[in-house]
Amino acid sequence: MKILVYGAGVLGTQLAQVLVRGGNDVTILARGKRAEELEKDGIVIRHIFQFRTTVDPVRVARTLEVDDQYDLIFVVMKYNDFPSVLPILADNQSSNIVIVGNNADARSMQTYLEEHSRIEKQVAFGFHVSGGRREKDRMLSIGAGSGQMVIGSLDGDIGFKPLLDQAFQHVKYKLNVLSDIDAWLKSHIIPILMLNAVSFNEKRELIKLDGNRKQIQHMIGAMDEGLSVLEAMGISVIPEIQARVIRKHKRMLYLLLKIYSLLPMHKLFAGAFGEIEALSDAFTDWKKTTGIRTPHWDVLKRDYTILK
Ligand SMILES: NC(=O)c1ccc[n+]([C@@H]2O[C@H](COP(=O)([O-])OP(=O)(O)OC[C@H]3O[C@@H](n4cnc5c(N)ncnc54)[C@H](OP(=O)(O)O)[C@@H]3O)[C@@H](O)[C@H]2O)c1
Repeated sequence: MKILVYGAGVLGTQLAQVLVRGGNDVTILARGKRAEELEKDGIVIRHIFQFRTTVDPVRVARTLEVDDQYDLIFVVMKYNDFPSVLPILADNQSSNIVIVGNNADARSMQTYLEEHSRIEKQVAFGFHVSGGRREKDRMLSIGAGSGQMVIGSLDGDIGFKPLLDQAFQHVKYKLNVLSDIDAWLKSHIIPILMLNAVSFNEKRELIKLDGNRKQIQHMIGAMDEGLSVLEAMGISVIPEIQARVIRKHKRMLYLLLKIYSLLPMHKLFAGAFGEIEALSDAFTDWKKTTGIRTPHWDVLKRDYTILK
């Protein structure tokens, strides 16, 4: 099957490797130096916990032209990057698109594609559950070349699900299809936003949180407020356990966050400035429309260095 992975960053590279190993005809769209690296060396991934490095050759493209035809396109990039590629996807003649990554506004992206495409598009949204970071010319990954994607359509079933099943049939990769992917993506933003707000306050050195009980308490309080904002918008928190832990097990969450902040691996999950800022803007809009009070978030945001 002909597949394009649009975005050659940390998770796009991981997903491309899984799809290559699944026997698909995979092209990865990359820019500049990253395209050169992939052309020269292929997909090089250091799997941290398996103590091994894998190398997989892959086809590389620098652009998506109007006439390029793929059975599936996975767009894997930051939330604030998606708007720059939507017009290109709309112009292209491929039909089946999965937009992968944090997303506060999946509906607008789908509407844009529906309104601006010359052919009918089928759009799904997903989140590749993994982590990692760039290191010189290779990617560090916490996965073992397998993994899972939480995925769904905004309007019922995914029309091209049989193609997705076929793409992953020869690899250990789970497609966790949800009936309300938009609720999952919005629920996911809440802890990510609050955690990164504190991380940025600490200049990404969460270890400095040690002893700063107040910051962690504000973080947990802000997560709880975030859930209230979602509920006031009529959005169910998914998975339900997320709300239970944040609301009913604050002490346990406090201890977990404290341990997490002390582990060097938290840097593998650190969010990027531009994306967190864009997610923060989205949350501010939700907050305004619901009128929910958010005293803990307001304290975090006041100290939140990137918003100054
Ligand atoms: N990394 C993690 O550990 C992790 C964990 C969980 C979730 N996530 C989420 O997964 C999503 C993807 O994250 P990521 O870490 O893979 O991001 P990333 O490393 O920044 O990768 C994004 C890629 O998209 C490319 N891109 C952006 N705009 C483009 C455009 N207009 N044309 C072509 N390429 C473009 C970037 O190219 P350039 O390099 O040329 O800018 C980059 O290679 C995000 O929502 C992130 O928060 C990441």
